[in-house]
Amino acid sequence: LKILVLHGPNLNFLGKREPGIYGLKTLEDINSLLQSLASELGVELSIEQSNHEGALVDLIQSTFGVFDGLLINPAAYTHTSVAIRDAIAAVAIPTVEVHLSNIHQREAFRHHSYIAPVAIGQISGFGAESYCLGLQALVTHLRAT
Ligand code: DQA
Repeated sequence: LKILVLHGPNLNFLGKREPGIYGLKTLEDINSLLQSLASELGVELSIEQSNHEGALVDLIQSTFGVFDGLLINPAAYTHTSVAIRDAIAAVAIPTVEVHLSNIHQREAFRHHSYIAPVAIGQISGFGAESYCLGLQALVTHLRAT
């Protein structure tokens, strides 16, 4: 199985960015956790980060016919982006949405996700572990279908 992991805007600042909310792990730390989990699970990961909405749309479109699943933290675009939601719907790729923080416990503007309706499910609030739980859930889903 081939899975694309997408990190949205400002996640390249993890480790330095509001560590009380997002933790001390850097994006590289999270990516290496994911790579070792992927090799345990026997799946292939490709990992990208972008601060640009259109670049994320391009990356999602590029999964068509190439990747089996998408693990995405859309970051702030979760709450704003019809374009990212439409790209996921267009390529119809099985998708799991993850967040480091519990978005439902935070400001009201973070409670709504444009992505959730086109995802299999959402994991939110477990820090870096959200990504690991999300990858496991995605692989279990893909193997069952
Ligand atoms: C986030 C939550 C979003 O509300 C926020 O804009 C982020 C990160 C998270 O992982 O907790 O940038 O997606």
